Amino acid sequence: MLHAHELLRRLADLRLAHPIYLFQQIGSTNDYAKSMAEAGAPEGTLVLAEEQTHGRGRAGRAWFTPPGSALALSLILRPPLAAPQAARIIMLAGVAACEAIEQAAGVRASLKWPNDVLVAGRKVAGILVESGLSGEALEYAVLGLGLNVSGSPAPEQVDFPATHLEAEAGRAIDRTTLLRAILAQLQAHYPTLTRDALFENWRARLTMLNEPIELRTETGALTGRAEGVAPDGALIFRADSGEVQHVLAGEVRLRRG
Ligand code: BTN
Repeated sequence: MLHAHELLRRLADLRLAHPIYLFQQIGSTNDYAKSMAEAGAPEGTLVLAEEQTHGRGRAGRAWFTPPGSALALSLILRPPLAAPQAARIIMLAGVAACEAIEQAAGVRASLKWPNDVLVAGRKVAGILVESGLSGEALEYAVLGLGLNVSGSPAPEQVDFPATHLEAEAGRAIDRTTLLRAILAQLQAHYPTLTRDALFENWRARLTMLNEPIELRTETGALTGRAEGVAPDGALIFRADSGEVQHVLAGEVRLRRG
């Protein structure tokens, strides 16, 4: 169990962890944080839940957070970014999650474009960033992260193979230690949000670049290779036909055979 008094003590020195809202059960921490952000909650407001009954993933998918088995968190940020720079928050979250996993669990973590965190080629965490705009600028971003710690969804519940951190590390992982590492890494990289270094760090952790992949977007599936990524977060995809596209949203997987 996550304990409020222990969280307050162990996160006391972190700016991006205050105030903290801890729920035993909630629909979705992102929904709650979004309504708080709309109501003016400050940067650093952190919403945590032991269980989500309507956790949301990208592209309208469900995200499963059974009681006590995961970290489900939503952090309100108010970064000085223009709306098209919102992908920077995904880069921040991905890099911070990988570094925290490596520190707290001692296993190597990587990223699958655009925002999945992998350990040993399987998905251990997902990121869902939702923004509010004020004209051309971001008014707030809710950084949602779901990380499987001691359980992972059954194969029929997911469209990419999943794992959990304890299975990969081969030992118990203290969720408060992991949470602290994530928040500390987010805070450490936050000042670099618009710098090349964050983009380079994110790119260096991406898997599947220059490998044969299938790309699925709203308009269908294509086979080809990802030649790289652009600073706006787009995948630079060369289809087998030779056509090159900058793709901002979609799913990739390695092509078999
Ligand atoms: C994905 O991989 O599709 C993104 C999953 C994001 C899940 C997290 S759990 C905490 C936060 N609350 C939600 O409802 N979703 C995000």
